Amino acid sequence: MSVKRSENVKGPPTVPVTFVLEDPRSLTGGDQREHRLTGSVGAHLLEVAMDAGINIEHACGGVCACSTCHVYIEEGMKHLSEATEAEEDRVEEAPGLQRNSRLSCQCNIEGPGPIVVRVPSWNRNAIKEDPH
Ligand code: FES
Repeated sequence: MSVKRSENVKGPPTVPVTFVLEDPRSLTGGDQREHRLTGSVGAHLLEVAMDAGINIEHACGGVCACSTCHVYIEEGMKHLSEATEAEEDRVEEAPGLQRNSRLSCQCNIEGPGPIVVRVPSWNRNAIKEDPH
């Protein structure tokens, strides 16, 4: 499924965003765990990852109607848009919920970073366990 891209006006790609993949092979087909990328203010984290070939699951296509794009924000939460009530309701359905849990399609980059995102190993399996 294609990803609904952020409709925000985007700045130049200057924000350091590091993705740490617990299971890189299932997300990228390779073995590289850490991917240092640059994102644009206005973009959401799911599109930054997908543009770099990191295939985070996104069953609903990025419209906050599932919880498969769930990630952990290890650093830089203050550089992301605040979670809406709709996101908070959805993310509560995600397996492995933590205080730093977010839905990557709902996290718009708002500050200069750095941002560190961990993609849990069960991401690719979530859709099979919890189909929407
Ligand atoms: S892709 Fe469905 S909520 Fe993010």
